[in-house]
Amino acid sequence: MLKKQLDRFNRLDLIGAPTPLEKLERLSAWVGRDIYIKRDDTTTLALGGNKVRKLEYLAADALAQGADTLITAGAIQSNHVRQTAALAARLGLGCVALLENPIASEDPNYLHNGNRLLLDLFDARVELVESLDNADEQLQALAVRLHASGKKPYLVPIGGSSPVGALGYVRAGLELAEQITASGETFAAVVTASGSAGTHSGLALALADQLPELPVIGVTVSRSEEAQLPKVQGLAERTAELLGMALPERFKVHLWDEYYAPRYGEPNAGTLAAIKLVASQEGLLLDPVYTGKAMAGLLDGIGRQRFDEGPILFLHTGGAPALFAYSQAFSG
Ligand SMILES: Cc1ncc(COP(=O)(O)O)c(C=O)c1O
Repeated sequence: MLKKQLDRFNRLDLIGAPTPLEKLERLSAWVGRDIYIKRDDTTTLALGGNKVRKLEYLAADALAQGADTLITAGAIQSNHVRQTAALAARLGLGCVALLENPIASEDPNYLHNGNRLLLDLFDARVELVESLDNADEQLQALAVRLHASGKKPYLVPIGGSSPVGALGYVRAGLELAEQITASGETFAAVVTASGSAGTHSGLALALADQLPELPVIGVTVSRSEEAQLPKVQGLAERTAELLGMALPERFKVHLWDEYYAPRYGEPNAGTLAAIKLVASQEGLLLDPVYTGKAMAGLLDGIGRQRFDEGPILFLHTGGAPALFAYSQAFSG
């Protein structure tokens, strides 16, 4: 039913096969609890990550509208902007990005390395802004300027988190539900980073429809639970509306907000320890802004017995290119 509704929307096939669902054997043994991982860090565009799933729908929409330029916004080290710029290059579109420096970093690696380096390779045009406090209006103003110069811009919202973008994670949720069923495991929870909310909203919507007993826990990366909840709930409602359905009865937003301090874009000791642990036990790279915080929440949640019985499933949303921008954080 949900799949049928989803299939009505235009989608570019950028990912092809489902991303793997794997057991983290050594980490599970180390922690004393079975942990599985869904490898959305391996999506095939420009070092991977969750945004490729949203862009499958957003870029199809852009092409259907005859756009010639993708415009978007984010932090200097945004993974979202990197993936959008890469896709624009692949599709022969222009890309213009508004970038902010949310941690006021003067570290040359933050300013020029990691994701930021890649934007230049993809020929994205970058405009630095003081802040993105009014990102929607700032992007609208950019669109007006580009129109005036003869371009046909398509506005990709911050993080790709519009209802159209969230369809990518509805689809991912259907894919994951099939993998979970095939595994024969009864998972305690799915854990994911929750930022601009499209990933969390889409995934929770699909899983509430397919596996209503399974909670999706969003570990916030930038906000308190109070501030994040209406974002996730509201986007899920608008996504359901776009799909022509009501939110599934069992849909519920679960948020853990103890792991994002001191603020967005700044790792804490728990973030760095989680990244180091997973790298040293599994040869697997998390990132300092999103997945490191989400994994820190997962590990602390196990320690504090916050989960029900059963293995835990971590959604790896990518982000490792930012490690090269945060080398200072690891050298202390
Ligand atoms: C690596 C990574 N993980 C998680 C997220 C959060 O996803 P969302 O913005 O859909 O909440 C992002 C978003 O920028 C990301 O780059």
